[in-house]
Amino acid sequence: MPDNKANGATVFVIFGGDGDLAWRKLVPALYNLFLDGRLPSRFKVLGTGRSQFTDDSYRLHLREGVDQFAAGGKSDEKSWDAFASNVFFMQADFGDSKAFAALAKDLSAYDEQLSEKAVRLFYLAVPPDMIKPIAVGLASEKLNRDRAHARIVVEKPFGHDLDSARRLNRLLAEHFIESQIYRIDHYLGKETVQNILAFRFGNTLFEPLWNRRYIDHVQITVAEDDGIGHRSGYYEHAGALRDIIQNHLLQILCLIAMEAPISFDSDEIRQKKVDVLRAIRPIAPEQVSQNAVRGQYTAGWIRGERVGAYRSEPGVAPDSTTETFAAVRFYVDNWRWQDVPFYLRTGKRLPARISEVCIHFRPVPHQTFPDAALSDSRPNRLVMAIQPEEGILLRFEVKHPGPSMALAPVMMQFYYREAFRSRSPEAYETLLLDVVRGDSTLFMRADQTEAAWAVIAPILDMWKSVRPTDFPNYHAGSWGPEAADIFIARDGRSWTLPTFLQCREDLASCGVAREPL
Ligand code: BG6
Repeated sequence: MPDNKANGATVFVIFGGDGDLAWRKLVPALYNLFLDGRLPSRFKVLGTGRSQFTDDSYRLHLREGVDQFAAGGKSDEKSWDAFASNVFFMQADFGDSKAFAALAKDLSAYDEQLSEKAVRLFYLAVPPDMIKPIAVGLASEKLNRDRAHARIVVEKPFGHDLDSARRLNRLLAEHFIESQIYRIDHYLGKETVQNILAFRFGNTLFEPLWNRRYIDHVQITVAEDDGIGHRSGYYEHAGALRDIIQNHLLQILCLIAMEAPISFDSDEIRQKKVDVLRAIRPIAPEQVSQNAVRGQYTAGWIRGERVGAYRSEPGVAPDSTTETFAAVRFYVDNWRWQDVPFYLRTGKRLPARISEVCIHFRPVPHQTFPDAALSDSRPNRLVMAIQPEEGILLRFEVKHPGPSMALAPVMMQFYYREAFRSRSPEAYETLLLDVVRGDSTLFMRADQTEAAWAVIAPILDMWKSVRPTDFPNYHAGSWGPEAADIFIARDGRSWTLPTFLQCREDLASCGVAREPL
């Protein structure tokens, strides 16, 4: 990760600085960056919100979050004090336009104190309905004007559907130019997600095979064992399709399917990704049921622990029809991918927290070996493990040792933690540093967010108009509803067990005893 020490002074203004995102993710990420010496030498973190914090009580509160969530573990007194001396809290209601004058004054005072114009990074860690008053309030004090120094960071959900995303984009465009706007999809900051580009375009080996001639289909899974925690207010209106497929999963699909960019220029890469979204075959309303499946969990067991049904989570309606599982099949209509299905699935309360991409290659075109040699043989498979393990696995065939010819699959494995022995930065660390540097490669452009909404719009509409009659339809701790298995089986395929389990199963099946990965 690059060093930002040379960057000019920077103020991180966190709207919603008293909220959960700041506590769990943003401030722990800033603290890690500080420890690694990657923040600009002169910086200030200004949390804002309605809570009654003083600077001191705010620092104490943040330290608890850092101790629990920072990748480096518990903070030590000396480093924390050095970091915390740059942290402040401004109590204000930013629904009220008057609050912005005080903010403007505080920011000018900081510039005067430093005799330098600091970069102002306005981070909106707030519910969607606060975006408008904040954007308008910043503009009312001309805090948006200096294009080189003012940046606004907007968290997902970026709109609720295509229309609301367009409205939001128009609103932001009234006050900021596109290069000042950073729309966060934190998946893009994950090391292994970025590695998809390095892997595809930094090697000669794989790209020639990366097309419909050699690839049978692609599966992308974001599985979570957690439920919705305290987020029912948001999740009840979102559901799995909006929460994960519209953003994280489609972004990964874009990286897997995009054409080779000419350069690592931010707009070039983003353009290649938009091209993929635009090439996704529209799903007609009458085809939604063949291309998408939804589910909702009922009570079940995860790793020996009993967990309740979605409908019994605090704040969830007892007859809620919100989906906590979604699986969708997309086709990318272009020369490279014509008729290659991309299966995307996500769910809460699945057996494990695992995100990965699995590229299933076609079987060899002609079988040279006798049937007896092939009982264990399988097509090649490439797995990109995103989390919790970060790595790449390639399955290929070898001769099983012994007097006769028999093929057996083996796995070639690369793990970040083994190869580099260094900590991968948290997604928010990477993304915050990029905003400081003014690099928007890993952020979504306005047209990208809209194209992603357009892709899922037919499914959203259909699911809204037709109530699910079988909810809840999967047990917590299972891999989702039976309908999802039937859905993929209709294409003659099945869902891949994620790497850990799959890898061990494969090794076991070819008689090789190995330690768990
Ligand atoms: C968020 C979703 O964007 O991503 C959450 O709103 C989800 O519902 C989270 O739990 C998953 O992120 P990660 O990094 O923990 O996989």
